[in-house]
Amino acid sequence: MPATQRIALVTGANRGIGFEVCRQLAHQGLDVILTSRDPAKGEAAAKKLRDQGLKVRYCQLDTTDEASVERAHRFVSEQFGRLDVLVNNAGVFLDPSREEGPATSAVNAKLETVRETLETNTLGPFRLCQLFAPLMAKNGYGRIVNLSSGMGQLSEMNGGFPAYRLSKTAINAVTRIFADEFRGKGIAVNSVCPGWVKTEMGGPGAELSVEEGADTIVWLATHADPAPSGGFFRERHPISW
Ligand SMILES: NC(=O)c1ccc[n+]([C@@H]2O[C@H](COP(=O)([O-])OP(=O)(O)OC[C@H]3O[C@@H](n4cnc5c(N)ncnc54)[C@H](OP(=O)(O)O)[C@@H]3O)[C@@H](O)[C@H]2O)c1
Repeated sequence: MPATQRIALVTGANRGIGFEVCRQLAHQGLDVILTSRDPAKGEAAAKKLRDQGLKVRYCQLDTTDEASVERAHRFVSEQFGRLDVLVNNAGVFLDPSREEGPATSAVNAKLETVRETLETNTLGPFRLCQLFAPLMAKNGYGRIVNLSSGMGQLSEMNGGFPAYRLSKTAINAVTRIFADEFRGKGIAVNSVCPGWVKTEMGGPGAELSVEEGADTIVWLATHADPAPSGGFFRERHPISW
């Protein structure tokens, strides 16, 4: 395998932004591991990209299931012995919608919803960083992109949707912690707000296409040295925490 043949793994990639990130990375020549919690959906998504002539393989990965995360890590270590790009994209938005009225407020939020959201959006990515950053460090190269949101910005923090907001503020802390611990080892770790994107989560009224939403993620995932690390980006520009 040539030294430049980069391997990328994307979570929650059977649809939405994750699927588009896989498409764009594969289009740039990376060897992409598309992962999903549901094997049937993920296999079908990977096949769709392979049918376009892209180099994409599939691996099951549920970010809330530690055994599944560890299996994926074993698969990558045994098949490739390396990982160059990790995109922690999988995410859920479980807070009740505005139409459901006061249910969306922090006062009424169910702790179960907060826990479930943190498991998927924060602890899963944390575990993936724990496993894959040391593997990247062995080659002295890595790009980790964590999907965050403007809703996690402390500088813009408002009431409502507490589960999602907490999970995205916390993933930003994960970014800062790993960026610092792996500084000087060739590994760049950054958070991205993709903007308001037309997906199942964003809804049909969103401003951006998936192609636009994936742009900053792919830019950071493939950034040449020296790459920024420990930052929070939207539309390829740093934004406040
Ligand atoms: N769309 C927006 O406007 C927007 C804005 C800001 C940030 N974001 C962030 O961008 C990321 C992608 O969002 P999206 O808009 O593409 O959402 P989406 O269309 O709802 O897709 C979410 C993906 O995450 C997967 N997923 C959920 N829980 C998972 C788990 N436990 N393990 C593995 N995969 C899991 C889903 O799989 P299933 O198909 O199995 O459910 C799906 O593939 C998320 O982190 C989101 O918070 C989105």
